[in-house]
Amino acid sequence: MRPTQAPFPHARFRRMRKNAALRGLAREHTLTVEDLIWPIFVSEAEGAGPVASMPGVDRVTVDGAVKAAERAAALGIPAICIFPYIDSALKTEDCAEAWDENNLSNRAIRAIKAAVPEIAVMTDVALDPYNINGHDGFVRDGVILNDETVQALAKMALAQAEAGADILGPSDMMDGRIGAMRAVLEANGHRDVTIMSYAAKYASAFYGPFRDAVGASGALKGDKKTYQMDPGNTNEALRLIERDLLEGADMVMVKPGMPYLDICRRVKDAFGVPTYAYQVSGEYAMIKAAAQNGWIDGDKVMAESLLGFKRAGCDGILTYFAPEVAQKLRDGVL
Ligand code: PBG
Repeated sequence: MRPTQAPFPHARFRRMRKNAALRGLAREHTLTVEDLIWPIFVSEAEGAGPVASMPGVDRVTVDGAVKAAERAAALGIPAICIFPYIDSALKTEDCAEAWDENNLSNRAIRAIKAAVPEIAVMTDVALDPYNINGHDGFVRDGVILNDETVQALAKMALAQAEAGADILGPSDMMDGRIGAMRAVLEANGHRDVTIMSYAAKYASAFYGPFRDAVGASGALKGDKKTYQMDPGNTNEALRLIERDLLEGADMVMVKPGMPYLDICRRVKDAFGVPTYAYQVSGEYAMIKAAAQNGWIDGDKVMAESLLGFKRAGCDGILTYFAPEVAQKLRDGVL
């Protein structure tokens, strides 16, 4: 119910904005460190180093990933998400590296959980880092195969759970993968491993810098429009979220973030489930590039962009800004 509003001058909205104390008392949404999930890129030593299109982001070795997890824990960031940069010699058509228990990603999960057990480790469940043609699923005659891919994703999910992952993040957009993953986890005793479904993931141009970071840009042939969502759709997002919840997802994600805040709000209103947004690489790159040029105040835009997700109903945000914003929240400079 809408409260009755007195006419001017009985009502003056500026009274509540008079000073920081009143603004603070009236504020409806805030960003806290507990809202953050930090995506990191892990590579072998040869691939480590800065990601040119993502200023401030580095590919790190497994040791570097442990250091990142220690840093995250010290800052109070609850979760870290691992994306592997796979040597091109290991990319194949059958993607067998994806479910190898000793692949880069699974070694990083083990190392982080051994050193910093309190950090939640999230994974990426999709074939693209391991696929010779850069797609998230198997390809036959130019077609991305759904059901065959789902079988592979279930094996990949199990290997990640066995390595100690807390949150599995299927980002592939195949149909039926949440149910298949949940079944394999239950059958193997992994009852408490959570799944955050990339349920409403759009075929977006905002992923460009990420594909550079994981070395997929060169490999990718064509686009991902036959499996990722059409940016014109909203009702389909709700149907996908509902489907994935019914198949056993614990959390759902909308991706990209800023251009899709309407979807976040609709999802939260419709289902009231733990809802996350991914502020993707292109969003990060835009803010960083403008800030580096002195065109915007980078810190303020970073904080405002993240607060927008809270206002839109998100419970948390995957963001490359995580360590920077956490440090600045701690220092009280935002
Ligand atoms: C691929 C994957 C992508 C991202 C996360 N997992 C890219 C894609 O779908 O091509 C994008 C993340 C970002 O841009 O920050 N499974």
